[in-house]
Amino acid sequence: MTYTVIIPAAGQGKRMKAGKNKQFLQLNDRPVIIHTLQVFERDPMCKQVIVVANHQEITQMEALFQQYALKKVDKVIEGGAERQESVFEGIKAVDDREGMVIIHDGARPFIEVEQIHELLTHVTAEQGAVLGTPVTDTIKRIDEHMNIVETVPRKPLVAVQTPQAFTYPMIHEAYQNAFTNQFVGTDDTSLVENMGKEVTVVFGNEDNIKLTTPFDLAVANVILRQRQGRGDS
Ligand code: CTP
Ligand code: MG
Repeated sequence: MTYTVIIPAAGQGKRMKAGKNKQFLQLNDRPVIIHTLQVFERDPMCKQVIVVANHQEITQMEALFQQYALKKVDKVIEGGAERQESVFEGIKAVDDREGMVIIHDGARPFIEVEQIHELLTHVTAEQGAVLGTPVTDTIKRIDEHMNIVETVPRKPLVAVQTPQAFTYPMIHEAYQNAFTNQFVGTDDTSLVENMGKEVTVVFGNEDNIKLTTPFDLAVANVILRQRQGRGDS
């Protein structure tokens, strides 16, 4: 089994407050987006990588991919104002319209090949799959005055990550449907759920963090040090 991966990287990285798209920030010796793409580069099941970038950053991205000799990045295409629009552009650019599609944020550089493979074993024509972790904090529902209305039972709650995996027909239909109905979701699976289709959660690793705020960069450096300790790069 092989798959195509779409990497949305067309955000602004505003919450990172770095003055530039966080994809270009250095982690150890390499930019964030390179860490992410190198995982797919070494996964034999990955046959095509589509990166979605900001219009004005396409040339810079392409130069980086050449510098790091990435062989699988086949297309660098222009994204939209929201992640959902960027991903939809990526879906439209997929060549294999019968195979598996994975969507994975450029800002999650710590995904591991084993986790991707585990995720894919749960995908069928009728069901998508997403990595997630159990929620460890106690979650409260509040009203507009910040008063607690309810303590939400934690047991059935998970925090979902990317990668999120689907067959091409399923994810294409979900995005087309959302576009037609102007449905906006916060992740890819919510568009599939909105069509009444099943998505299953596969428990992933806590270290598959998304780099969102400056604090996450500090955590990222801890993860990198741990991995160097166990001999990974
Ligand atoms: N993304 C995208 N197109 C957008 C917005 C986001 O491709 N219009 C991508 C980001 O580049 C990132 C992923 O979606 O890899 C997850 O989004 P997020 O963490 O929110 O990144 P940013 O939107 O860049 O950050 P912020 O919301 O803080 O501005
Ligand atoms: Mg964003």
